[in-house]
Amino acid sequence: MSESNYTEGQVLFEEDNHKVIWLGWEKDEGSGAVQTNQYLIIHGSKGILLDPGGVHLFPRVVAVISRYIDLDNIETILFSHQDPDVSSGIALWLGITNAAIHISELWMRFVPHFGLVDFSRLSSIPDSGGTVSTSTGAALNMLPAHYLHSPGNFSFYDPVSGILFSSDIGGAVFPKDTHYLFVDDFKTHLPIIEGFHQRLMTSGKVCKDWVERMRKNRISMIAPQHGAIFKDKAVDEFLDWLSNLQCGSDILSNFT
Ligand SMILES: [Fe+2]
Ligand SMILES: [Fe+2]
Repeated sequence: MSESNYTEGQVLFEEDNHKVIWLGWEKDEGSGAVQTNQYLIIHGSKGILLDPGGVHLFPRVVAVISRYIDLDNIETILFSHQDPDVSSGIALWLGITNAAIHISELWMRFVPHFGLVDFSRLSSIPDSGGTVSTSTGAALNMLPAHYLHSPGNFSFYDPVSGILFSSDIGGAVFPKDTHYLFVDDFKTHLPIIEGFHQRLMTSGKVCKDWVERMRKNRISMIAPQHGAIFKDKAVDEFLDWLSNLQCGSDILSNFT
């Protein structure tokens, strides 16, 4: 990781008028908050922002976005689920953009507890998912990922780049002062994703079902909300591992 990545982010995909950007990291982890990833898709002049996160990240995320697009051109903000590391900045984002926010219908009446919210700018995602489009013609698929870990959860798939924004699925918890953007070796990476998935994900059955559905897409990268991005052979290695994982209710005695 170069120093500039933290403050400038990194372009993950660029072709014609379509760009996918990872939005950097906090340099100072002194807050103790879990590390998170934010992503921006730009198609033509318009953007979709994914899981922009909480209040303490807001200045950095705004600064990095502004390097690539005018905030007024963000049309849509997607929340994969209701957790504070995803959505607690909701009032700030509604204030600084004109975007509509999409979140599971399950959580529509919960997120206003994070701050004063104009309901007319919230859009509920039905359990079955759907698509969301920019006015410039890009369509993103909202794919059900319920119970992984939230009961109202979505992964988002960009057919142009082939990037699957997987939410907490695939998330890693980095040890302090260790960061890398891409998974180079899945076996080395495994120890920092294993416990996270065993504890947070509901069951092996739900994981296997998600993997089978996601594999119907051409996946170039899996970009989780925490930790490092899977690409090349690490994509299949992760999916193979997840589809055979015992977790959550399968191993309940581990947690009692
Ligand atoms: Fe979460
Ligand atoms: Fe998370």
